[in-house]
Amino acid sequence: MARVAVVPGDGIGTEVIAEGCRVIAALAPDVVLEHFDLGAERYLRDGTTLPDDVFARWQREFDAVYLGALGDPRVPSNVHAKDILLGSRFRLDLFINLRPIQLLDARRCPLKDKGPAQVDMVVFRENTEDLYTGMGGTFKQGTADEVAQEVAIATRKGVERIIRAAFAYARQHGKTRVCMSDKSNAMRFTGGLWQRVFKEVAAEYPEIAASHLYVDVLAMELVRAPERFEVIVTSNLFGDIVTDLGAILQGGIGLACSGNIHPGRVSLFEPVHGSAPDIAGKGIANPLAAILTAGMLLSHLGRPELEARVKEAVRGCLLADEVTPELGGRLSTRAVGDAVLARLG
Ligand code: NAD
Ligand code: IPM
Ligand code: MN
Repeated sequence: MARVAVVPGDGIGTEVIAEGCRVIAALAPDVVLEHFDLGAERYLRDGTTLPDDVFARWQREFDAVYLGALGDPRVPSNVHAKDILLGSRFRLDLFINLRPIQLLDARRCPLKDKGPAQVDMVVFRENTEDLYTGMGGTFKQGTADEVAQEVAIATRKGVERIIRAAFAYARQHGKTRVCMSDKSNAMRFTGGLWQRVFKEVAAEYPEIAASHLYVDVLAMELVRAPERFEVIVTSNLFGDIVTDLGAILQGGIGLACSGNIHPGRVSLFEPVHGSAPDIAGKGIANPLAAILTAGMLLSHLGRPELEARVKEAVRGCLLADEVTPELGGRLSTRAVGDAVLARLG
């Protein structure tokens, strides 16, 4: 019996995760969902972010974590989000941030003449290094001579394992192309490592066409010719940025799902979007990203057929305009959840 730790978190996180939980309960009633009260409210109440005993329980007792979003204007330091979200990624060593970019309904793509056949790729975003580790500091803070430094980390181990994961995925899924993206023309130390490791690993996959684009060109090419891409592998920050771009190619940030994965270990699944304070509490957040994320989670629990059903139900809703206002629909978050459940039968 699989166990999932649920962290709805802040803002619309709570609204969309409620719908995702209904989908999991309907499709896999044997999966145990245990909710954890973590997020801005809790932090403001008692200073708790991610307690060690909770973290230890996740590692020991759970197969996956299902997270909404973290971020609240009342916590401008964002310390709780860093501890809970980035903390989970680092402490659970979830080195793969797997972000599919798949257009399900041609009408939702903002690009001219691009349909589901042209927008269908996955991004392997490195998830434990780069500019995200918090290494760095300030000197003479608050003075005219202030210095701030944020250190980008790339390790041989970290770069190699994400590149290997991308190639292994391509081979396993019958994909023919892997594109690595960096900024090695400007960042020669970390970029150089990425370049060397990519060439080495690519040589082990002769049947897969390995290519490279600088990340600025990748941004352009994703808009000009998204059909060029099947599997993209890139570093943490670049992956963050290109997957928001990818989100809009598939119809909007309310449709983008993701998994923070360490194969064989407890992994964390979350929509790509944030807590959206601008629409929180109104009942109009799009729950489809969270629902597709629930599908990814079920696949991770060994039930890929349930992910396929979730995707079909979401596709059905999109095609029938059973969507929230930001996609031009009239339905509430809950009503979209109902529509997905109705399609799941
Ligand atoms: P955001 O993704 O929360 O919102 C960006 C825009 O997209 C907003 O206009 C919002 O209304 C809209 N949007 C997002 N999700 C939507 C949905 N499901 N349905 C309809 N519209 C949606 O990004 P932001 O405004 O930059 O960030 C808000 C907070 O969330 C910040 O504190 C940020 O750090 C945090 N954040 C958290 C996560 C996470 O926990 N995984 C991810 C991204 C941002
Ligand atoms: C994401 C988010 C996070 C990130 C933020 C909230 C730290 O934008 O998951 O895409 O940058 O990884
Ligand atoms: Mn992001």
